[in-house]
Amino acid sequence: MKQLIVDGNTALYGIIGNPVNHSFSPDMQTRAFQHLALNAVYLPFPVMENDLPRILDAFKLLKVKGFNITIPYKEKIIPFLDSLSAEAKLLSSVNTVKWTEQGWKGFSTDGTGFIRSLGALDLDLKGKRVMLLGAGGAAKAIAVSLANAGIVHLVIVNRTPERADALAEMVAFCNENVEISCNPDKPLPCDLIVNSTSVGMKNGGCPLDNDQVELCGAVVDIIYNPSRTTLLREAQKRGIPNLNGIGMLLYQGVESFEIWTDQKAPIHVMEESLNKSLAIG
Ligand code: ATR
Repeated sequence: MKQLIVDGNTALYGIIGNPVNHSFSPDMQTRAFQHLALNAVYLPFPVMENDLPRILDAFKLLKVKGFNITIPYKEKIIPFLDSLSAEAKLLSSVNTVKWTEQGWKGFSTDGTGFIRSLGALDLDLKGKRVMLLGAGGAAKAIAVSLANAGIVHLVIVNRTPERADALAEMVAFCNENVEISCNPDKPLPCDLIVNSTSVGMKNGGCPLDNDQVELCGAVVDIIYNPSRTTLLREAQKRGIPNLNGIGMLLYQGVESFEIWTDQKAPIHVMEESLNKSLAIG
């Protein structure tokens, strides 16, 4: 592999958020650049909300080529961008920005990253019934991508029913071919269950009763820390194929890399970096 020499031509990429110092993306993206012999580095930039417009001016001045945005600025960045992809506009959420001839363009790679991560399950989404747990920002991106991937029925389950209804309305607006229902009163057979809530991150909680888990063909939990949530362990016990959120984390980064460079990302290199970072913690 060609050694990266940082010099006067090195392109700068980064991630803004607060906090952002523990992000896995700087190592993952810099190693990907290095692997393809692209003269570029990627750094974390912790930013206070009031400084968002100034950081964009600074990035422009420094000729930053692109950056990621993480919590809590995925929506707040939007007024300072020059254009949005159709998906970012629909979701009102941006996690990737690229400098273009027309200025800063915002994208959302969460949903497409999620769909690509499902490759590990070898599941064709066409014609499938999916149960989505949660109705927050991540759920929105996932729901729209699932609908566009050809599922026929989406069941949204959320603690706050009004948010489930609002998400259902939004998905129906952008894809009229999907049948949508919310908060069913009994367990339903489904091909895939996706947990996008934070239940399971701490205290070992499970977002679903076991009688519902038993009725599904596959389970994805977008949580990656812990890597095996109670929900995934319950699925595993029953021999149900299951997947944690590391793939989504990986592929949203893969998609960002491909938007910035117009090249195929070296997925194995990025995955290796991510696994190392996760092991260190
Ligand atoms: P994100 O952007 O990561 O999706 P979010 O927008 O805050 O985060 O959404 C968090 C999701 O987890 C929501 O669906 C939330 O349910 P509510 O809409 O009822 O708030 C869900 N969630 C968080 N804590 C929960 C809990 N203890 N029990 C059930 N659902 C929970």
